[in-house]
Amino acid sequence: MVQLRFLLFKSFVLVVLTYCVSGKSFLKHGLGAINRLNPTKINAERYDNYEVYNYTQTLDHFNFNAESYTTFQQRYVVRRDYWGGPTNSSPIFLYTGEEDDVMDDVEYLGFPVTLAARFNALLVYIEHRYYGTSMPFGSQEEAYENSSTLGFFTSEQALADYAQIILDVKKNMSAENCPVITIGASYGGMLASWFRLKYPHIAYGAYAASAPILYFLGLTPETGYDSVVSKDFNSTSASCYNTIRESWFEIDRVAAQPGGLSNLSQIFNTCKPLNTSEDLKDNMEMHYKVMAQYDNPRSNYLPLFCNATDGSSGEKTYILDKIVAGWAAVGGSECLNIHNFSRTKDSGWDWQSCTEMVMPMGHGENDTIFQADPFNLDKYTKECQQVFGVTPRPYWIPIEFGGYGIKTVLEKFGSNIIFSNGLRDPYSSGGVLQNISDTIVAVYTQEGHHCLDITTPSDSDPDWLVAQRDKVISIIQGWLSNWVKS
Ligand SMILES: *[C@@H]1O[C@H](CO)[C@@H](O)[C@H](O)[C@H]1NC(C)=O
Ligand SMILES: *[C@@H]1O[C@H](CO)[C@@H](O)[C@H](O)[C@H]1NC(C)=O
Ligand SMILES: *[C@@H]1O[C@H](CO)[C@@H](O)[C@H](O)[C@H]1NC(C)=O
Ligand SMILES: *[C@@H]1O[C@H](CO)[C@@H](O)[C@H](O)[C@H]1NC(C)=O
Ligand SMILES: *[C@@H]1O[C@H](CO)[C@@H](O)[C@H](O)[C@H]1NC(C)=O
Ligand SMILES: *[C@@H]1O[C@H](CO)[C@@H](O)[C@H](O)[C@H]1NC(C)=O
Ligand SMILES: *[C@@H]1O[C@H](CO)[C@@H](O)[C@H](O)[C@H]1NC(C)=O
Ligand SMILES: *[C@@H]1O[C@H](CO)[C@@H](O)[C@H](O)[C@H]1NC(C)=O
Ligand SMILES: *[C@@H]1O[C@H](CO)[C@@H](O)[C@H](O)[C@H]1NC(C)=O
Ligand SMILES: *[C@@H]1O[C@H](CO)[C@@H](O)[C@H](O)[C@H]1NC(C)=O
Repeated sequence: MVQLRFLLFKSFVLVVLTYCVSGKSFLKHGLGAINRLNPTKINAERYDNYEVYNYTQTLDHFNFNAESYTTFQQRYVVRRDYWGGPTNSSPIFLYTGEEDDVMDDVEYLGFPVTLAARFNALLVYIEHRYYGTSMPFGSQEEAYENSSTLGFFTSEQALADYAQIILDVKKNMSAENCPVITIGASYGGMLASWFRLKYPHIAYGAYAASAPILYFLGLTPETGYDSVVSKDFNSTSASCYNTIRESWFEIDRVAAQPGGLSNLSQIFNTCKPLNTSEDLKDNMEMHYKVMAQYDNPRSNYLPLFCNATDGSSGEKTYILDKIVAGWAAVGGSECLNIHNFSRTKDSGWDWQSCTEMVMPMGHGENDTIFQADPFNLDKYTKECQQVFGVTPRPYWIPIEFGGYGIKTVLEKFGSNIIFSNGLRDPYSSGGVLQNISDTIVAVYTQEGHHCLDITTPSDSDPDWLVAQRDKVISIIQGWLSNWVKS
């Protein structure tokens, strides 16, 4: 139960941050019924094992003007009770924080702890700059003031931060000879793999969970994400898939009638009267994406939703009643809060997606479960200019970190990276799903969802998940035995 709640909670944080909404405002406003399943904090005493520090970090690693030398306090967390110590060259697992408060990772993503126990490793989690308490300029308000203060908020700066901190930690612990392996999930997984490629002299390997490093223009079709959402629903139930696909047109039909909006408000039990049918459709679309991204045998979102939608066809044949029945099965019966998904100035991920992290997502007419909504770079750019006064650089990430011809490039040059995925995760469409070489490997499951393998293992985990994690362990084992030999 705790696990299920967590997955739901994390789903909001991750999907939403990758979907242009501030996590905080999202949680505050909530998404109607589903939001009532808030996370419960597990095991406060687990914190006893963790030491929380600040590192005095340089604002700008790549420039030598006066302001670059400004510093800020960057948070990192150390767990050393499993560590074998420097004389044994015991490994260091560096968790490369993503767009989130790092304490949430410590609290909820337990597989790194399993790995630390297995390999007698030191665990070091580092918070990403501009998230959590790791704010330049003294406070979030000041850090997010405008594009001048946000300008130091890039993935390149974040990687350099991690390099500085881990070298300092190693020095302090006389652990210079201990191999560092980066671990990360989602955007943090992208950082983990990029760190290995950019700083091979610091990181000896990387475990990148659900890292869509190829979800950029020209690398992954814009329909990638929504195609997987569609496949997830269709493979759960083709009739459920069709019900959802057709519901959009019925919403449009009703909305166009006099009094139609108030009928829709009533049918969907919205907390406040709807102003436009687009608001309703945006919110429903987001819910379907969240459910698909985090569907698995444990959360069971899609089977629950589709069973109710399909099952209601006997007595209730009206298509929107079927949708509402599905809704009730996953979300309960509270009223539906209509959230505004526009970008906001106080969202870190909105800034990142308005600068470097332009992940093109869209779909044409009737090619997914959603209505047509093609990716429109001009519109995207205008929104970013309006909110942040910046113009996105959609082609920068592949220039900086690669991606084109990844197999031929990395098989000649790279080594020691695990790309893990679950193919029911819509982001897996931008992941590395082929083995690039003997040591840059793709480890995926048909059944898994976003970040599933890195969550805390439990006795009820299905065999395929246990097998995936075992594979990760044995690959890391292989790297480490080579390290000892050399
Ligand atoms: C780290 O820095 C933040 C922000 O300056 C501060 O709020 C916090 O108390 C510091 N934590 C530690 C452990 O020093
Ligand atoms: C950002 O705000 C600071 C402080 O108010 C100001 O000095 C600076 O000119 C502003 N930059 C932009 C791009 O507006
Ligand atoms: C390393 O030790 C120095 C001196 O005790 C301390 O100031 C610094 O914060 C430590 N750094 C890390 C990363 O632990
Ligand atoms: C849905 O699944 C069925 C098989 O159950 C398949 O025939 C059909 O093409 C799929 N439709 C879409 C849009 O994927
Ligand atoms: C709205 O609901 C009323 C009462 O149930 C019904 O008479 C009317 O036909 C509905 N209008 C539309 C556009 O569905
Ligand atoms: C409709 O607009 C009003 C006035 O702007 C606003 O207070 C209300 O929250 C909006 N309703 C929804 C569901 O967004
Ligand atoms: C499926 O739906 C039916 C009725 O719609 C319900 O009785 C049954 O409990 C549901 N099963 C599951 C596993 O949710
Ligand atoms: C959502 O918020 C933005 C500004 O944050 C505003 O411009 C827009 O009108 C809002 N949309 C709706 C549907 O309320
Ligand atoms: C898309 O699907 C809708 C509903 O099934 C249908 O009315 C419409 O004609 C379709 N459009 C195309 C281009 O096939
Ligand atoms: C890649 O190689 C690993 C380790 O040899 C293997 O377990 C895995 O199944 C391979 N993945 C693919 C997609 O072939």
